[in-house]
Amino acid sequence: MSAIDDIKQRLDIVELASEYVSLQKSGRSFKALCPFHVEKHPSFFVFPERQSWHCFGACGTGGDIFSFIMKKEGLDFGQALRLLAEKTGVTLVATSSQRKETEDKQKDKLFQINETAAEYYHHLLLNTSAGETARNYIARRGLSPQTVERFQLGFSPDSWEALQQYLMTKGYEEAELAAAGLVVEREGGSSYDRFRNRLMFPIRDIQGLVIGFGARALDESLPKYLNSPQTLIFDKSSSLYGIDQAKTAIRKDNLAIIIEGYMDVLTAHQYGWENTVASMGTSVTERQLTILKKLTKKLILALDADTAGEEAVSRSGEMVDKMLPVPPSVYGWVKYEDAHDAEVKIIVLPRDKDPDEVIREDASQWQKVITDAKPMIDFIFDTVIAKVDLGSAKDKSSVVEKLLPLLSEMKDPLRQAHYVERLARLLKIDVRALGDTLRRFRAVEKKRRVNKNFQSLTTLVPISLSSSPLEEYCLALLFQYPELRSEGMRLSPDYFEHSENRELFLKWQQNAELASLKSSLDIALHEHLDSLLAKVFPPTLGESEVEQQQSLNDCIVRLQENFLRSLEANKEELLAIEAETGGVKAQLAMLEEQGVEVSQQLKEVFIKRGHRRQPVARRSE
Ligand code: UTP
Ligand code: MN
Repeated sequence: MSAIDDIKQRLDIVELASEYVSLQKSGRSFKALCPFHVEKHPSFFVFPERQSWHCFGACGTGGDIFSFIMKKEGLDFGQALRLLAEKTGVTLVATSSQRKETEDKQKDKLFQINETAAEYYHHLLLNTSAGETARNYIARRGLSPQTVERFQLGFSPDSWEALQQYLMTKGYEEAELAAAGLVVEREGGSSYDRFRNRLMFPIRDIQGLVIGFGARALDESLPKYLNSPQTLIFDKSSSLYGIDQAKTAIRKDNLAIIIEGYMDVLTAHQYGWENTVASMGTSVTERQLTILKKLTKKLILALDADTAGEEAVSRSGEMVDKMLPVPPSVYGWVKYEDAHDAEVKIIVLPRDKDPDEVIREDASQWQKVITDAKPMIDFIFDTVIAKVDLGSAKDKSSVVEKLLPLLSEMKDPLRQAHYVERLARLLKIDVRALGDTLRRFRAVEKKRRVNKNFQSLTTLVPISLSSSPLEEYCLALLFQYPELRSEGMRLSPDYFEHSENRELFLKWQQNAELASLKSSLDIALHEHLDSLLAKVFPPTLGESEVEQQQSLNDCIVRLQENFLRSLEANKEELLAIEAETGGVKAQLAMLEEQGVEVSQQLKEVFIKRGHRRQPVARRSE
């Protein structure tokens, strides 16, 4: 829970307001003379159920505990936050910049520990009798001394505490070694070396810092490879083995070759393909691509014959998804190519052979495999088509059905036209007929997506008191898609009932740039801002400005609706109280007037939403 939510939970609006005004119970609410302006008849109301307040008199405004204290004490949001934090005994955690500083220090420590461990393992491999088996293994695998040196391969001794003891004499603490993933903590509190009797592969980031280790068994014991666990500095799925050694060649060749294994990378480099990195056995992820994106737009992915198996392809488009190491689907790759102007090619390895073996057998064969790499789309086309009977009309339409989504994803019309033509040629069908089918498909797709987006938004109705998903969704849209700025200016700050969100919105109105928005914000809100910036939207949203607009419009209408409903609820409650207690006639008339206006606005909202619901007396959340 954030500090802001924590404070809201601990501090009752009734309790807070009664420190400033004398509240009288009135139905389910409390009323008082408004603390913000001079008046004779109470028009200031506090609603405990919604933890909000509202002045129906001259102020005509309301809010939560934070806005109450801001208005009453003349404070800005950050000052109000600190005041209420102190009052409720909530500690405002270290600001994000302070936290980042300590985190950076911790990371530095882990890099140092790993570096020291890598040197230690390397030394044991080269210079000790314990390292002999490993040295023999390396020789058997044909790795040259230069390769061993360059990749700083090592040997972890067959001991439960050798590394631990060594690192502790270097001044590191057990807890730090555990944080680096080098030792494993036992239940009782003691710990033991994670890597024992294995060939060690230090894994480095692009700058050359050791982030973790891969460790191969020297015999048939399992697991074949043991890897560092996830740590503050290591996440296997966002790292690429060999990237530090490969980056220069990738840039120079304007090409990166992505294969699977540690051994494969070593061999590829040893034989001159220095532009090679390994995904370390898993499907290539978006985060791994982010690293490569800065170096080149041309990628070659090696798939082994098993996963690329034709059988898999024959079943359905979904299987095509599964067989490729894709983020998150084949269609993802097409989008990736489009979005980054990238070129992805595929090589299928000979059955049961790793690049390591292919290269050793005949380096020229590996060169040929690379030269013959197929553009990904062609590869998919060919694999899908290879499995069907082109004499059968039914098979032809099943191919079209499978490949339409792919064609439909292509943004570049020329590229699309190229592949429509190619597919028509391969299937021996009329290119115009295929073009028409594609257009119809796109129209249907577009409709379906808009609906889906609408539905996903509909499930985001705010439900909790301490945060509003709808408000946050809306802010996240505005912060992440600058194109929405002019549309977003239509929003009123009043629509944000939660002070922290209202504050963010106000600051966004004043600052077009994220950087200036951030620096204008109280530091206590940085975390909230960061969480909104990190909010993940459906990928289709990022692609289409139309969908972004639609999402935002939807948000605006719904926020407005919530706001008006809440006003309406306040008003009805008020009218009920006034009727009960026989309030002043003139005031009642004024409120009626306000009420009529609210109802009309609500009606408009309903029309905008396109479905007619009866206005409800209480806010629905
Ligand atoms: P492979 O089983 O193909 O191993 O796994 P390899 O790299 O060819 O190694 P050798 O030639 O048998 O010595 C490919 C990659 O998958 C990851 C490693 O990154 C490995 O290099 N892997 C594999 C693991 O992380 N754990 C395992 O148990 C196996
Ligand atoms: Mn291998």
